[in-house]
Amino acid sequence: MHVTVLNGPNLNLLGTREPEIYGRRTLAEIEALCRERATGLGVTLTWHQTNHEGEFVGHVQALPGAADGAIVNAAAFTHTSLAVRDALLAVEVPFVEVHLSNIFAREQERRHSLLADLAIGIVAGFGADSYLLGLEALARHLRPRA
Ligand code: DQA
Repeated sequence: MHVTVLNGPNLNLLGTREPEIYGRRTLAEIEALCRERATGLGVTLTWHQTNHEGEFVGHVQALPGAADGAIVNAAAFTHTSLAVRDALLAVEVPFVEVHLSNIFAREQERRHSLLADLAIGIVAGFGADSYLLGLEALARHLRPRA
């Protein structure tokens, strides 16, 4: 099973970016944790981060045939991007939406996700663990245990 993890803008700054909200782990550390967990789940991972909306859309468009499912932290694009929504609608690849912070407990403009209704489900508010929990949930969804 292959899973692609897509990270949106400013997530490359994790570690120093508003650590009281996003924690102190860098994105590279979160990637390493996910790769370790993926190995245990028998999943191979592709990992992307971009600050550019068009590039993010390109990564979504590349999912069919390349990944069985995706973990998506679209960061601020979550709240703004019809282009990312349209791309996810077009490819019909199952995905779990993840956020480090609990977006529903934050400013009004972050409480709405343009992607959430397309996702299998959402994991938000557990810091780096949101990725690990999302990965486990996606693997379970794609390959239900007896
Ligand atoms: C985020 C939440 C978004 O509102 C924000 O724009 C981010 C990160 C999170 O993981 O908590 O960049 O997606």
